[in-house]
Amino acid sequence: MSAKIGIVTGGGDCPGLNAVIRAVAKSAIRRGWQAIGIYGGYEGLLSPQQTRPLESDMLAGLLVRGGTILGTANQGKFSAKVGHGESRRLPTELLDETKRGCEELGLLGLVSIGGDGSLSIAQQLYEHGIPIVGVPKTIDNDLAATLWTFGFDSAVACATEALDRLHSTAESHRRVMVLEVMGRYAGWIAVYAGLAGGADVILIPEIPFSYDSVCAKVHEREEAGRHFTIVVVAEGARESGADFVTSAAQSQNREARLGGIGVQVAEEIGKRTGKETRCVVLGHLQRGGSPTNMDRALCTIFGAKAVDLIAAGQFGQMVAFTGSEVTGVPLSEATRELRRVNLDGGFVSAARSLGVCLGD
Ligand code: F6P
Repeated sequence: MSAKIGIVTGGGDCPGLNAVIRAVAKSAIRRGWQAIGIYGGYEGLLSPQQTRPLESDMLAGLLVRGGTILGTANQGKFSAKVGHGESRRLPTELLDETKRGCEELGLLGLVSIGGDGSLSIAQQLYEHGIPIVGVPKTIDNDLAATLWTFGFDSAVACATEALDRLHSTAESHRRVMVLEVMGRYAGWIAVYAGLAGGADVILIPEIPFSYDSVCAKVHEREEAGRHFTIVVVAEGARESGADFVTSAAQSQNREARLGGIGVQVAEEIGKRTGKETRCVVLGHLQRGGSPTNMDRALCTIFGAKAVDLIAAGQFGQMVAFTGSEVTGVPLSEATRELRRVNLDGGFVSAARSLGVCLGD
């Protein structure tokens, strides 16, 4: 009987999930193995199981298709994130039941495609004896131990296109346009898109901002005859001394939902400068649609590497891009802390050299 591997997608969706599923399934099938899709996140492993073999003909077109054909969940029994960088221990009975589910399916290994929440669950499942490997997914790019997570480049492309579009309307109307982007407690999307889209102000969680500094930039541009300003605000950005702005409070099994800072920033700039301001919240547009070329390639390399790790019996590892190679790193290392924008790094220094206001 051929070996079987399971594939599960967890947490928020993002462009490229299907491309990873395709790469894992194709690599497995070429080895003579069977790839089993687990539907609805880890809960699909529990009784009554929701699984289905992924045959070759089901993989056609997946490279470019947004979302996940397996479905996903960022709440329910396996929700692990409870706060800023914190995760919850799963009850032993749930871990036992999940392990039983893998054994009933006869899985040689399980590929878990997820962000820090799903991968911290993967680590717990691994510690409980489940042969598991991780693939780093999140538009936030906030996982330690990998320079890139897939989905991030697609989110940046979406935010950059939005900035390009906002530029022309801001200039025509002489307005301040504020774009709120996702990213949770890391400013990667804001920084990359802000630089790629030529923003004048970039506000990120790593640098608490002051309205004096932001409005000084608007005035400086006015004096230079530039009567419009483009501001990118990460959803986790906050004014010095203030708390994160949330659109839904934290509950027992769910972390707080960030959102709303963009509107506040736009209103305050309007009040202080007298300029007409508008805010656009990009939201889940950043998570939808087809992955970029870069993400398609990354997903394919990550998926193939995950199958290599299983073949080599290297469980408890996550596939990671280190800058020079794609390799396996311990899941424990990847989920230990959030990777945030390095204030001494090239992005921040490039922004400062160009006179982009970072709010400090
Ligand atoms: O982690 C990905 C992400 O899109 C964050 O950038 C955002 O804060 C959050 O998920 C939104 O989650 P939900 O899909 O629950 O609204």
